[in-house]
Amino acid sequence: MKNSFVSTWIGWYLDNARDLPWRETRDPYAIWLSEIILQQTRVNQGLPYYLRFVESFPTVFDLASAEEDKVLKLWQGLGYYSRARNLMKTAKIVAFDRKGVFPNTYSELVKLPGLGPYTASAIASFAFGRAEAVIDGNAYRVLSRLYDIDLEIGSQKVYESFRQLATDLMMATKPSVFNQALMELGAVICLPKPICERCPISDQCLALQNKSIHLRPVKKKSKPKERQAHYYVLPITPTGDWILEKRPGKGIWSGLYVFPLLGEGEFNPKSPSFLQLKHLLSHKEMDLHFQIREFASIEDYPGAQLIPKDKHEEIPFPVPFLMALKHWKLL
Ligand code: ADE
Repeated sequence: MKNSFVSTWIGWYLDNARDLPWRETRDPYAIWLSEIILQQTRVNQGLPYYLRFVESFPTVFDLASAEEDKVLKLWQGLGYYSRARNLMKTAKIVAFDRKGVFPNTYSELVKLPGLGPYTASAIASFAFGRAEAVIDGNAYRVLSRLYDIDLEIGSQKVYESFRQLATDLMMATKPSVFNQALMELGAVICLPKPICERCPISDQCLALQNKSIHLRPVKKKSKPKERQAHYYVLPITPTGDWILEKRPGKGIWSGLYVFPLLGEGEFNPKSPSFLQLKHLLSHKEMDLHFQIREFASIEDYPGAQLIPKDKHEEIPFPVPFLMALKHWKLL
């Protein structure tokens, strides 16, 4: 019985799968890149990023030797830039310490920077055919509905029980195909607002029977967002060069360039070059205030650098800074 509904599901996937380039390869490098990008964004938005990455860095050696700014520029817009920095760390480990060979087991993969249980399982199954079930947001949604599970998502214990369920289901089939079919159902049918009439396994779905689809998965209540206001000025020299700071540390914009940060009091909201933007992150809401000012002395901006005009196109910026520059027609 179990086998027959899983084979219906797999048959549906094989007939309806979207054509996605990372599904046509078993190259762990390409699969790793695609999974790291797709953790950040949906397939439609992630696809052009993936294509630009594999074009710019066809092998792990190319990525391992790339300049950080170039990698961050390609990542620009995806957010959580520490992921791009981890991408470079892992590329260096694989290229230089492992002669270009990716580990082929879950337990070794999960040790690499930036790889968690999800990514390690995805690479182990898609590249190496291993029976490692992937549990991402799609998988939680599909499985919690299929079995009408009322456990709250978020703990290690609940993760393990979902992983066990998926592992049991994948037994009679190819792990890589099962994992893709699980994600595909969640991505195109079993959506937050599902299209049950098109679901190939709706007759097996306990939540549908119990009329609890809208209650699954059970998610933790999110905390109210923290709000922050920041004030930035862009100093411009008479020849059109900019003063920028490369963000250090581990924050969400680490490695990117931002305008120097000022205190609220140093700011003139009546200036003609003033711009205010809201920037929403998963856990906070930022009010960003921007202003252009004439440049006097680099000493006024400790930690900042002069970026000559002919380099501006190459600089990786957080999206709101890019929007400010475009608004001012500077980029
Ligand atoms: N989302 C995350 N990984 C994916 C994959 N391999 N295929 C389709 N969507 C995905």
